[in-house]
Amino acid sequence: MAWSDRVLAIRDRWLSSPRFQRWAAAFPLTRPTARRRARALFDVCAGFVYSQILFACVRLKLFDLLAEEPQSAAGIAARLSLPLDSTQRLLDAAVSLRLVEKRSAERYGLGALGAALVGNPAVGAMVEHHSLLYVDLHDPVGLLRGNAPKTELAKYWTYSAEEPAGASGRPGPDYTALMSSSQPLVASEVLDAYPIQKHRCLLDVGGGDGSFLIEASKRAQHLQLMLFDLPPVAKTAALRFEALGLGPRTRAISGNFLTDELPDGADVLSLVRVIHDHNDDAAMALLRAAYRALPAEGVLLLAEPMSGTPGAATVGDAYFGFYLLAMGRGRPRTPENLQQMLLAAGFKGTQLMRTRQPLQSRLLVAQKG
Ligand SMILES: C[S@@+](CC[C@H](N)C(=O)[O-])C[C@H]1O[C@@H](n2cnc3c(N)ncnc32)[C@H](O)[C@@H]1O
Repeated sequence: MAWSDRVLAIRDRWLSSPRFQRWAAAFPLTRPTARRRARALFDVCAGFVYSQILFACVRLKLFDLLAEEPQSAAGIAARLSLPLDSTQRLLDAAVSLRLVEKRSAERYGLGALGAALVGNPAVGAMVEHHSLLYVDLHDPVGLLRGNAPKTELAKYWTYSAEEPAGASGRPGPDYTALMSSSQPLVASEVLDAYPIQKHRCLLDVGGGDGSFLIEASKRAQHLQLMLFDLPPVAKTAALRFEALGLGPRTRAISGNFLTDELPDGADVLSLVRVIHDHNDDAAMALLRAAYRALPAEGVLLLAEPMSGTPGAATVGDAYFGFYLLAMGRGRPRTPENLQQMLLAAGFKGTQLMRTRQPLQSRLLVAQKG
């Protein structure tokens, strides 16, 4: 056994001993650490309750209400059509989570986290969407054993060539609108980290409603834009490009990247939040298809949340790990793992670019030649 394993085994024995725990909580030098650890453990145990409090705030549009102006509990109760004591309970919980803040004259305003939500509707859309994940995660062991029935997320992410029934009333599948709401954040991360201006034509594979290409079009006026997605999604993108006057610069191509060849003609190809949705075989097939579609000097941009991200490991490994488990396919991969896959697909060199906020996505750039 390595010496570090022996040290950690002793630490584990101490930390799991009730006698040591009592001593550490009382001794002045260990007390702060013992309290921090107890608090961290409690937060992991109670995280699902915190999320549901946030869900109630979002569903009731509490943050929009408080963004108007700070208000009394009675005023909030009347606007939310909730009994006063329930409103007070929700406000107390939201204050404890820094979603709401107490203000002067017994009023309540936005807390630091609640205010960030008002300026970022994508997070609100994700919180609403989590009602599906919440149902799927009620039996995590069943999911891990692979014997869960068809999950809510598997039904949501249908990836079908058929026109969807669409609960949202917007054209295209509901997931396209959800992805679109968070795409501006991802697009600016990617396009700030990589100089797209040096290219002639960008093909965004699995490009959704075209949000990434629309952002790229603003950064490089000369850039031609191609999008490849399933028929109902590509149709939504084409309508959007036309409405924005981007018709002459864009082509939205319908197809299935698991069975069809990707169109050629672009010198840079992007896969934004696409590879992590797929199991290894499908992901490798798509990377090989991307390699074939690019010219000799072509570049692939692969952007998605990744496993093992320093400072964001809970996002990549806990959140996306279990989100994709519930969806029934795909997994978050480390940059090293993705780099190996890119090399195996034929790419010559890969580079992990620095992004400001690697929570939502990190960026790998791969060179064909
Ligand atoms: C998670 S979404 C990402 C959308 C967009 N790139 C973004 O980041 O907002 C995955 C996209 O891949 C598309 N897609 C999934 N399977 C596909 C397939 N077999 N062929 C073509 N597109 C597919 C979906 O329709 C969807 O638009």
